[in-house]
Amino acid sequence: MPTERLVLRRPDDWHVHLRDGAMLKAVLPFTARQFGRAIVMPNLKPPVATTADAVAYRERILAAVPAGVSFTPLMTAYLTDGTDPDDLAQGFEDGVFAAAKLYPANATTNSAHGVTDIAKITPVLERMAEIGMPLLIHGEVTDQAVDIFDREAVFIDRTLAPLLERHKALRVVLEHATTAEAVAFVRDHAASGRVGATITAHHLLINRSHIFQGGIRPHLYCLPIAKRETHRQALLEAAISGEGPFFLGTDTAPHPLTAKESACGCAGCFTAANALELYAEAFEQAGALDTLEAFASLNGPRFYGLPVAEEKVVLERSPSTAPDIVLIADGDGVLPFRSGETLNWTFVGAA
Ligand code: NCD
Ligand code: ZN
Repeated sequence: MPTERLVLRRPDDWHVHLRDGAMLKAVLPFTARQFGRAIVMPNLKPPVATTADAVAYRERILAAVPAGVSFTPLMTAYLTDGTDPDDLAQGFEDGVFAAAKLYPANATTNSAHGVTDIAKITPVLERMAEIGMPLLIHGEVTDQAVDIFDREAVFIDRTLAPLLERHKALRVVLEHATTAEAVAFVRDHAASGRVGATITAHHLLINRSHIFQGGIRPHLYCLPIAKRETHRQALLEAAISGEGPFFLGTDTAPHPLTAKESACGCAGCFTAANALELYAEAFEQAGALDTLEAFASLNGPRFYGLPVAEEKVVLERSPSTAPDIVLIADGDGVLPFRSGETLNWTFVGAA
């Protein structure tokens, strides 16, 4: 008999783009409905680079949380070549920042202010290692000569492995891991307890062929781009393993429909509207619903040194429909991942 009801400690989303303004108001309720806490990415325009920026952004997020919903945004700092180690450390010690995000300059959406050469932020990384502040990494090389499907694996070799060698106490999360190489690398460092990886729902569900199924599907385009099926299998195996370093991070990245459906569509999948249903589907396909709670609710808090949630949520094995376009107050809209399609699970709410 298949499992009909899943009761989990309330999960957290360890990688989310909440945006700002009208978009923030439109998308935040979806994340706050399912997740108790979320690591909020700082790639706004301009980026959330200082403690003062993060305090102000956190206020705007909290103002957008619907009445009666409990949700804690965990803020991150956007590292630039000019990041001030004192401000960063102060923000971490004051509990404003939970972590800092490394975007190699121009690797992805709104990363133009990112770090141009990791050597430039050596003092910042030394300080972070000293105070135990996690470094969250967009792990792709920006060298355009490297094939887009190889950029993560090459980053691991060229940048991540030497980085961990240089900074022996630095704690890192390889965000939105998409390759078998990433899984193997994280496992190689598991004993140290200082390397984690988030895995998105969409990378558990699609491979690169899906992006071109019957035509070009801009809503399946994100960065890092989905890889071939063998990599999806490796990610799924890691996610369902229950192993501590692997935890849930949706990388829900909403963009206006017009920016996605364009001659040069931008990167990002908006999965917040049914994130847990999507993860449940992937875990069920792998016959591993029993390890969803470790991945979604236990491993992340453990890595970040936070308490696991006391509240519980319920998912039911009944069909639900991924919503149609989500309208934004500025007149545009965002299309959810799998919009209009039937999902096998329904998020019911608090237990
Ligand atoms: C993200 C975004 O739109 O901000 N896009 C994406 O494809 N994931 C940026 C990122 O996390 O790379
Ligand atoms: Zn992201």
